[in-house]
Amino acid sequence: MNQPAPPFGVRIRGTGSCVPNRILTNDDLSKIMDTTDDWIFQRTGIRERRVCDPMTEGTFTMARDALKNALDAAEMKGSDLDLIIVGTVTAEMTCPSVAARVGAALGAVPAAAFDLSAACCGFVYSINLAQALIQSGQFRSIGVVGAEAMSSIVDYQDRTVSILFGDSAGAAVLTRDPDPRIGCLYQTMGSDGSGWSSLYLPRRPQEVPASDADNPIRLGNLRMNGKEVFRFAVTKFREVIEDAMIKTNLTAESVGQVVCHQSNVRIIEAAREKLGLPHEKVYINIDRFGNSSAGSVGLCLDQLWRAGKIEKERPFVMVAFGGGLTWASGVWRI
Ligand code: COA
Repeated sequence: MNQPAPPFGVRIRGTGSCVPNRILTNDDLSKIMDTTDDWIFQRTGIRERRVCDPMTEGTFTMARDALKNALDAAEMKGSDLDLIIVGTVTAEMTCPSVAARVGAALGAVPAAAFDLSAACCGFVYSINLAQALIQSGQFRSIGVVGAEAMSSIVDYQDRTVSILFGDSAGAAVLTRDPDPRIGCLYQTMGSDGSGWSSLYLPRRPQEVPASDADNPIRLGNLRMNGKEVFRFAVTKFREVIEDAMIKTNLTAESVGQVVCHQSNVRIIEAAREKLGLPHEKVYINIDRFGNSSAGSVGLCLDQLWRAGKIEKERPFVMVAFGGGLTWASGVWRI
């Protein structure tokens, strides 16, 4: 997507995140299914993940707390926002949106609010959309959240999918800025729905294709063809990062952090090596948090931001892929 020069900039004014306290290790999983810490770590890079207490926590509470942290960092209040977007596929209810409840909890009434469904791309799609809406002149301050309680949609009786996922939320507050050099330098969002059945969540038997009819995973839980997703992701992920760097004239030397969706450490490492990026520019936290779908990029961004790793001089990249199939990137200068 080519963008005309904006009349003003879009500032990431604060970031925040939230993870549940409860830790589920690979060893914990090996007590309830036929797996081992070694098998999971070798294939995915994951040692442990966070999971919600379903009685007291979930997508809504994590989204609310992550956005509250981002507002505090931005020294703003909920009432300063005119829109809230929550990227998620694990909303407790299909109506109302998580975003509307978050808005009410943070005093953001009457800000507009909606959820955005783009699976693991939820945060990058949402922040891309938010910056475009601010640039359009329609909105001034937007709260963006990626939040996912994956533990509510995985079948812990099955070892093939459940081992990958964890729960988290990441958030950012975007505001209009008079400096047009600040903000998103480039963004892409894409999809190929023909690959939908390699990562999907059927609620009714008629949604299950014949080729997947023998899948033991219970309805209402996420199903995945791991090999197909891996094949797609290992090429697409690199292509999307490479495209973002080429379009903004960035090299392995000049780019700042490449903030990756934490899908599988082997997918991230394959892209990192091909693009000649040093380890310190590609943050990894999948060992501690697993794949938290739409939560992951916002969580990484917040951890990097608070550690002072997002530099003013070097544009940074956010990149994700996921169910849909979808992919997205954004290059930002702060
Ligand atoms: N523990 C131990 N053994 C397991 C296991 C587990 N948790 N899950 C599967 N296995 C077994 C399989 O039954 C199979 O056994 P078999 O050879 O006797 O049939 C064997 O391990 C290999 O299974 P396979 O599915 O071929 O493993 P894989 O090498 O493809 O790795 C993934 C599985 C899921 C780690 C890998 O395909 C992957 O990471 N895909 C991408 C997923 C992804 O990124 N999803 C998120 C997108 S946002």
